[in-house]
Amino acid sequence: MKLAGQVAVLTGAASGIGRATAELAVREGARIVAVDRDAAALAALTHALGEGHCRSVAGDVLDEELARRTVDDTVAAWGRVDILVTAAGISLGKPALETTLAHWNEVMAVNATGTFLWIRECLRPMTAQKHGAIVTIASQLARAGGRNNASYVTSKGAVVALTKAVALDYVDQGVRCNTVLPGATETPLLRRSLNRAPDANAAAARSQARHAMGRFGKPEEIAAAIIYLASSDASFVTGIELPVDGGWLAA
Ligand SMILES: NC(=O)c1ccc[n+]([C@@H]2O[C@H](COP(=O)([O-])OP(=O)(O)OC[C@H]3O[C@@H](n4cnc5c(N)ncnc54)[C@H](O)[C@@H]3O)[C@@H](O)[C@H]2O)c1
Repeated sequence: MKLAGQVAVLTGAASGIGRATAELAVREGARIVAVDRDAAALAALTHALGEGHCRSVAGDVLDEELARRTVDDTVAAWGRVDILVTAAGISLGKPALETTLAHWNEVMAVNATGTFLWIRECLRPMTAQKHGAIVTIASQLARAGGRNNASYVTSKGAVVALTKAVALDYVDQGVRCNTVLPGATETPLLRRSLNRAPDANAAAARSQARHAMGRFGKPEEIAAAIIYLASSDASFVTGIELPVDGGWLAA
């Protein structure tokens, strides 16, 4: 098992990529702390994984006190935090001219500030124990740009930049920090995005065709890359952007 004995904190763990990563992390031997604002879905996850393997924390990733308390409680209960995966994210889907300031602020807050806050709190135990692996979730659109989602694309660019800044600042303290760039992946977030199009089926077909593999990714395929970066298999890897995009960026 790749993560035997390790303790992982995962935000956005109740759905999609975060949920698949939570399940794989437990299968690989980790104990996890699953954070999400969807309390019902979180309870279902904890029930499925078992309370000995999964503690759940219902709340908003932007709650600074919650982040601090969660990390402190994790260290008190399980002694350490080895891994952080920041999968909580939102996408509201508008071009710049139609993006209100409230909309912009919400997306930037959840995707960029929410990532920063949980990194900052997890760095406290990680630097003290001189061991940690942080995996953030950006998007292939952070590198390539994308239509009709100015706030989302910008927030993911910020996640990439933050990932590199953290990688360099904490490399001497045993902490690695990398980001995954998923292509379009079959999750509720993608379904909501497609449903905003006038013809959701046509939008799905267009998006699938944009990937060299001609299909969407599965959450489990993104989770496998996240667990690779979190594990000692990636012990010489820090500050990278790993596309897991079915050839989207190459096409
Ligand atoms: N699905 C895709 O096509 C795709 C592609 C590239 C990147 N991503 C990124 O992957 C990550 C996971 O996305 P997903 O597709 O699994 O989405 P999802 O909607 O299935 O899951 C996201 C989870 O984050 C939680 N969340 C959102 N805002 C929160 C907040 N403020 N506080 C606490 N929890 C919050 C939601 O409740 C949900 O459980 C996101 O950062 C997303 O931008 C997704």
